[in-house]
Amino acid sequence: MQASLLTAPGSIELRSRPIPELQPDEVLVQIAAVGVCGSDVHYYHEGRIADFVVESPLILGHEASGVISKVGSAVSPTRVGERVSIEPQRACRTCEQCKRGAYNLCPFMEFYATPPIDGAFAQYAVIQSDFAFAIPDSMSLEAAALCEPLSVGIWSNQKAGTRAGSRVLVAGAGPIGIIVMQVAFAFGASEVLISDIAQTRRDAAARFGATRTLDPTQDDMPGLDVDVFIDASGAEPAVRAGIMALRPGGRAVLVGMGKDDISLPVSRIQGREIELTGVFRYANTWPLAIELVSSGKVDLDALVTGRYPLADVEAALHAATDPNALKVIVTPNTCS
Ligand SMILES: NC(=O)c1ccc[n+]([C@@H]2O[C@H](COP(=O)([O-])OP(=O)(O)OC[C@H]3O[C@@H](n4cnc5c(N)ncnc54)[C@H](O)[C@@H]3O)[C@@H](O)[C@H]2O)c1
Ligand SMILES: [Zn+2]
Ligand SMILES: [Zn+2]
Repeated sequence: MQASLLTAPGSIELRSRPIPELQPDEVLVQIAAVGVCGSDVHYYHEGRIADFVVESPLILGHEASGVISKVGSAVSPTRVGERVSIEPQRACRTCEQCKRGAYNLCPFMEFYATPPIDGAFAQYAVIQSDFAFAIPDSMSLEAAALCEPLSVGIWSNQKAGTRAGSRVLVAGAGPIGIIVMQVAFAFGASEVLISDIAQTRRDAAARFGATRTLDPTQDDMPGLDVDVFIDASGAEPAVRAGIMALRPGGRAVLVGMGKDDISLPVSRIQGREIELTGVFRYANTWPLAIELVSSGKVDLDALVTGRYPLADVEAALHAATDPNALKVIVTPNTCS
């Protein structure tokens, strides 16, 4: 098969690789669409994220969909031909975190495009059968790929306790912030306010239905008294302002990944009994993701701003950083 490999920071090469071997519980997926994520761009430029260092050529891409072309010996052959969305993680299933259902926190997790595990910028990828979710005919394979960032949005809102009537503030109107906003509305939020320093991103959020867009350099936030604050920016001033905007007893959820250490308004957190948590990916979100898309409550197709064949992954990684872009897609099985 053809695969796009990160061979060194700043260097992507298209190479021939053997089609991966199947374990009994796995399926082989002919990859149709892969969303480009900020973490792919980060690995491309830096060759590492925190303690994960790219030490040998790595296939990037973890937001993937495709068609099952082969199944392992323990999987029903009737699955061949199914259009699927891939949940790109493999947990150990036996540790304490897995057993309590928080498998996203499994210390033995193998996650696509996180060294040394290959991702999906390739013609084929393998995944355990129960992490390949069949999608309805009405759903596009691009939307199926974007069930991955949608899962981040679902998990964030579940952690936040967003429900009917909630007033929600989101910081950051990138693809994650816009998905978080759409999920908040799908969960019944009556208002979703979204802030971004970039006008193009505020405009995009308005197109996706934001109740109000805020420019953090101009608009005053402390008096908002929202029920929920979800940070999808990773920016320290946005996190601080979001916590200040919460009503007493409100919840803050940190999704954005920025600096390792930031300062927080602790007396406000105490005086208002603010609940604060982080988010690390997701667990058990795919069935709901597929339902939200197929019922029309969340629109993922409208996020796609560009498409690139496998030979042009490098161009796709650059395009993903354009502030006018939202989601850039790589299509590994279309010819350039
Ligand atoms: N926790 C997780 O599991 C998880 C999963 C996926 C992504 N993420 C993180 O979520 C964040 C968002 O992802 P994305 O792909 O949308 O990134 P992005 O970079 O496209 O979007 C971030 C947005 O934040 C805006 N921003 C910067 N400073 C701001 C401020 N002070 N106030 C308001 N907005 C501000 C930027 O202009 C940008 O539009 C990233 O930090 C990413 O690493 C976390
Ligand atoms: Zn991602
Ligand atoms: Zn585990």
